[in-house]
Order: sequence, then structure tokens, then C-alpha cells
Amino acid sequence: MNADEMKKMAAEAALEYVDGGIVGVGTGSTVNHFIDYLATIKHKIDGAVSSSEVSTERMKGHGIPVMDLNAAGELDIYVDGADESDHNLALIKGGGGALTREKIVAGASRKFVCIADGTKLVDILGKFPLPVEVIPMARSHVARQLVKLGGTPVWREDFITDNGNVILDVHNLEIMKPIEMENRINAIAGVVTTGLFAMRGADVLILGTGDGVKTVLPK
Ligand code: A5P
Repeated sequence: MNADEMKKMAAEAALEYVDGGIVGVGTGSTVNHFIDYLATIKHKIDGAVSSSEVSTERMKGHGIPVMDLNAAGELDIYVDGADESDHNLALIKGGGGALTREKIVAGASRKFVCIADGTKLVDILGKFPLPVEVIPMARSHVARQLVKLGGTPVWREDFITDNGNVILDVHNLEIMKPIEMENRINAIAGVVTTGLFAMRGADVLILGTGDGVKTVLPK
């Protein structure tokens, strides 16, 4: 079974967690499958809050009403993918560059259901380069601070986020203390968001694997 089939399996399983109301929707190839499944029950939900322009377009294409978070209030559920998850369900996200809006919608939701293929579960976060969204004028300053934290930041050239900012992908981090690292990166002037979702990690991780769907809860 290939990775895309595993993503699809996880996405379908997440439908069980949707119980009407307004659904928070993440971004990425796994979420694209989820959006396609969500469309099959769109008559049962009031609509969705989106974490990116790409997901908004896909949902609109399916006729799913997309709402403004300010009007929606607190959401019952947020469904999103991840680039890595540890066993406490602290995540690295932002491979697609949508980390800031993803973190906002995750923070505004009571339950975060993460969907991924089985390869995303790791013992220690950091093999996947950690995305950090940065105000453009602060790029070099933030990069120097990230080097002091032990990382090797690489500017994601030719990429601008939905918020008009740039991304530094930080290589060579071994993130032993995810909450501490998230706080330290957040404290750098010029950082908009780090793709480390540790303070608000996932509540449940649904993995598609060659042996079927596996559900992981925080350790
Ligand atoms: C988007 O910015 C990311 O946070 C995605 O959620 C993450 O990269 C997972 O993407 P895939 O579902 O495409 O693996």
C-alpha cells in the first residue's frame, strides 16, 4: 500500500469524529482526501472554517460553506495532517506553509484530530525540517537566532504564505523538549509562528497503515 492510500484511509476514518456543527479543516494532501469525504456528509454539517486558501477553494468546489472563524466561535473539531508526530502527539506541521492559520484554527477547537500515514509517527521530532513563518524584514535576524538554538535554517525561496510572510525550514534539530522549543522560537522577534504544535498538540492521531487504521492517543 502506498502513502497516498494510507492517507486516504486515515482521512476516511476521521469522518467518524464529525458530529454536525462547524468543522475546522486543515491543509495538505491528507486533508484533501478528508475534504472529499466531508463533501459526502455536507448536508449534516453547518459548514467549515478553513486554514488556507487552497483548502477553501477545494471545499467551495464541493459546495461546502466556508465560514469566517470570527463568526464561527469555538469549534468542536479540527481535522488536519502533520509532517511528524511524536508519541505525545506533539507535531511538526507547515510543510505546505499553512502553519499560522492551522495553529489558529487548532487553538480555537476543542478537539484536534490529526490524520496521517503511518510513517509520520516518530520517537523524536526534528528529522522533518521545522517550518517557521517569519515577517520578511526579520528573515536574517530570525535565522541567526535559530542557529543559536542548534538548527540550520534554510529560506524557502519563491514561497510566500497566505499571510504575506516567508518560511525558514530549520534542519538538524533534535527536539527533545517540544514545548520548551516552541516557546523559545515563539520568543524570537519577527517570528509569526513555529510549525511546532506542542502546547496545543493533537488529541487523537489517526494513522493509515498497511495493517489498517491505527488510533493513537497522547502517551
Ligand atoms: C500544511 O502546512 C501542513 O501543516 C500539512 O498539514 C502537513 O504538511 C501534512 O501534509 P500532508 O498531508 O500533505 O502530508
